[in-house]
Amino acid sequence: MTQIVPSKYPLTRMRRNRQADWSRRLTRETYLTKDDLVWALIVHDGEEPRIPVTAMPGVDRLNLDEAVKAAKRARDLGIPALALFPHIDPSRKDDTGSEALNANGFVPNVIRAIKEAVPEIGVMCDVALDPFTTHGHDGVMNEKNQIDNDATLNMLVQQSLVQAAAGVDVIAPSDMMDGRIGAIREALEANGYKDTMIMSYSAKYASCFYGPYREAVGSGAVLTGDKKTYQMDYGNTDEAIRETALDLQEGADIVMVKPGLPYLDIVYRVSSTFNVPTIVFQISGEYGQIMLASEAGWLDRDKAILETLSSFKRAGADGIVTYFAERAAELLS
Ligand code: PBG
Repeated sequence: MTQIVPSKYPLTRMRRNRQADWSRRLTRETYLTKDDLVWALIVHDGEEPRIPVTAMPGVDRLNLDEAVKAAKRARDLGIPALALFPHIDPSRKDDTGSEALNANGFVPNVIRAIKEAVPEIGVMCDVALDPFTTHGHDGVMNEKNQIDNDATLNMLVQQSLVQAAAGVDVIAPSDMMDGRIGAIREALEANGYKDTMIMSYSAKYASCFYGPYREAVGSGAVLTGDKKTYQMDYGNTDEAIRETALDLQEGADIVMVKPGLPYLDIVYRVSSTFNVPTIVFQISGEYGQIMLASEAGWLDRDKAILETLSSFKRAGADGIVTYFAERAAELLS
């Protein structure tokens, strides 16, 4: 048997830098801070202050007043921004999701209420039709039951203008229609919203990990079929680069990869290819995994939060949309 003698040993001992807390802190390469967090909030248009989401233990749907309270809490904790996801009463849903265009609807009202009470917090809002359609899809369906790209663009543009008028800081299209970033950007410019940012869900995969979210916003039970004709195939990575390049050409200010943990390779590739602000979404199914395992006593929740969020920073993300933002900010305080 040949004996393997590491040529550098013992001159190089990797464990020297790891031997004490101070030396580990000193030599650490990436840091998670409160400035990296975007708090994902589910908001609902009813009276009830908070309605627990069964599939997301610890997450409640918030009514308008509770959403404003959460915004104050975020500001006090030093969280830079919120991302809003609406649950609306089923009676307001229709085939085309027309409630998304209602300038006096629930979403613009929440945006206005938060910006009025807490002007210093960044407010991001999902642009997509799924919380508003009776079929649960992100777009408009044609007579062959296909999602009609260009008819959807028209809706998304109007939805974006409604949100911009309400004072949203960041339009976040999560629908994956072709050409939507360009269409929204042109409409924003043409209507005097030149400072409204666009965070594009650029590389968004058709994932089973969105399950709990669909319960949270009430689109899951009604969803017919899957979203594979618009969301990406999880076998692909070059396609994520093409999608991101297009969104940047079309005027996105920030790009996003979603889901997070099963797609760290995509986060790394997107952030190192483009060197533009890159956000990752730690989505509902990732949240659920950590919560269920920690409730069962199999994982330390707080450690799992910090480790997973830090992994996104290590992969190159500049920020993270997460349902854990409040807890993470407490832990980082
Ligand atoms: C759809 C949308 C989804 C999420 C946010 N907006 C996914 C989907 O239903 O396809 C997922 C968020 C999460 O899972 O936490 N417009």
